[in-house]
Amino acid sequence: MAPDALEIVFPERSEKCSIIFGDKLLDELPLDNFSEASSVALITDDLVAKLYAHRVRENLSRVAKTHLIVMRHGEQNKNLASVAQIARKMSDAGLDRKSVILALGGGVVGDLTGFMASIFKRGISYFQFPTTLLAQVDSSIGGKCGVDATWGKNQLGTFYQPKGIFEDSSVLDSLPQKEIINGLGEIVKSGIIADRPMFDQIAASTEEYFSMEKLKTLVRRTCEIKAKVVERDEREMSVRKVLNYGHTIGHAIEASLNYKLSHGKCVVLGMICEGWIAAKLGIFQEDDFVRQNDLLFQIKKRYRISPSINRRRVLSFALLDKKNASGVINMSLPEEIGRMHPGKNGGYSISIPKDLLLKSLDNLKVS
Ligand SMILES: NC(=O)c1ccc[n+]([C@@H]2O[C@H](COP(=O)([O-])OP(=O)(O)OC[C@H]3O[C@@H](n4cnc5c(N)ncnc54)[C@H](O)[C@@H]3O)[C@@H](O)[C@H]2O)c1
Repeated sequence: MAPDALEIVFPERSEKCSIIFGDKLLDELPLDNFSEASSVALITDDLVAKLYAHRVRENLSRVAKTHLIVMRHGEQNKNLASVAQIARKMSDAGLDRKSVILALGGGVVGDLTGFMASIFKRGISYFQFPTTLLAQVDSSIGGKCGVDATWGKNQLGTFYQPKGIFEDSSVLDSLPQKEIINGLGEIVKSGIIADRPMFDQIAASTEEYFSMEKLKTLVRRTCEIKAKVVERDEREMSVRKVLNYGHTIGHAIEASLNYKLSHGKCVVLGMICEGWIAAKLGIFQEDDFVRQNDLLFQIKKRYRISPSINRRRVLSFALLDKKNASGVINMSLPEEIGRMHPGKNGGYSISIPKDLLLKSLDNLKVS
């Protein structure tokens, strides 16, 4: 497959971010992106390091001195302690303001690395090389980066755009089955928020979409959806909020379980609850709500929710969500499959009473 590209343009800063798609990028990175770097930090996690880091490093070493920096895998390590450790290693390796970072890994590596790039020496350039389905279709795009804090998910972060994103479909072949569900949840979300035909396509043969080969066919389209939204509203002042569908409750569930259930699975649970809220408020068309849930419950039945979810704990984390103001919980909700409700004044934000949030969790049959 010859590399193919998609561009996200930020005209006010005369900047752009190219998303390059291919199946040989591990060995054939577009090296011109790194040729002016004084050095490169290749940041990855311990699992991805064993699989792919040597190939990418070999490649990069042709144009720049490359330092491999490995963090421990898992959401539990997306925190300030890891940032401090990696910053120390980068500093010890002599990285300077002309150095460039490449994040090789899933959303955890990508979010943390982007954050690091935004603060190291007051900001240096970085690129993303996402290696999970979720990271390819979602987290690597849009420049939201950050880490979790003891009091909540993604509580410390910045907006900082990568200069480019390298999407190599071959890395998806080594992903375990559970990572398929993670990515599939975000792909279905993209269908609900902006692409009814894509949702219909998945709903018509859901079983087939539990295979990576089939899911690969939706990666580019899902990236396009996110890229267009980010281009219109980089800083999430209005329309970008639609990307958070399922995430207010999803993030709160994730944090309440101490990150023992993965992000993508929590987002599926979050959409079940937030979709119910939208239907209860008379916003989400009844037929589409039923269709959404048919599909989401097919995904949910593939995994167990363990340990069980505590409703009050979820509410306390939901109250910390960054979209809230003055203790009011705000969400972006669908009005039909393929279209989100514009909210008050086109801000794509709807205020939700706390008791409705608590009741929505009954849909998950939890304690
Ligand atoms: N910035 C954003 O806009 C945004 C959007 C969505 C999600 N996120 C964040 O993304 C994170 C979740 O990302 P994730 O689901 O990629 O999780 P992850 O980064 O933890 O990766 C999942 C697991 O897969 C392993 N892995 C990665 N690539 C692999 C490969 N090719 N083969 C085999 N194993 C591989 C990793 O080592 C890890 O154990 C969360 O922290 C979430 O908050 C951010």
